[in-house]
Amino acid sequence: MQLFLDTTDTAVLKDLAATGLVDGVTTNPSLIAKSGRPMLEVIAEICGLVEGPVSAEAVATDAAGMLAEGRKLAAVAPNVVVKVPLTREGLVATGVFAREGIQTNVTLCFSAAQALLAAKAGATYVSPFIGRLDDHGAQGMDLITEIRAIYDNFDFDTEILAASIRSPAHVTSAALAGADCATIPPDVFAALFKHPLTEKGLEQFLSDWAKTGQSIL
Ligand code: G3P
Repeated sequence: MQLFLDTTDTAVLKDLAATGLVDGVTTNPSLIAKSGRPMLEVIAEICGLVEGPVSAEAVATDAAGMLAEGRKLAAVAPNVVVKVPLTREGLVATGVFAREGIQTNVTLCFSAAQALLAAKAGATYVSPFIGRLDDHGAQGMDLITEIRAIYDNFDFDTEILAASIRSPAHVTSAALAGADCATIPPDVFAALFKHPLTEKGLEQFLSDWAKTGQSIL
């Protein structure tokens, strides 16, 4: 499973990327706004911090505009993936990008029908938003299961990028449901390392070791 960070905070990205466990990054217009920085500048910096895919979102709502913006974003770095919304215009643009060899992440996916269309359009990734479906009273994880079944039925190449992740449980459930990737907020990513029994067990190991008076080096 590929683990991406959902962030434009380059300081936090540097810190977590140093673990060697960050496979890529996703951004969106809200995260760009939160950064307070020019979009192309922050995308270029992020692309230099990770070798894996970096999603950068077009903001035009018509296919022609998405194509113009996406081609400019793709030119920033080889690992840029152009993000477009799961709309009719977004899927038209996705088909053109696919023919041009530009990788795409079709975002704001909330139904299996939408995901089916994204795969038919040739999307590289589709981003089902788990947390926002949960917030809406639905079972967001069920969507991952449905998309996985449909993509396997027809051997679609599009990768399921579980998004709108709210907890470590979302990450493990998405992995169990067969998502290819998950894009994770930094605080949730940091929480993945932690379990109280690990901390307690390590404390006990070190306490017992100290009593031996030994040193390994
Ligand atoms: O960036 C895509 C997605 O992960 C954002 O989800 O609900 O946290 O804004 P959300």
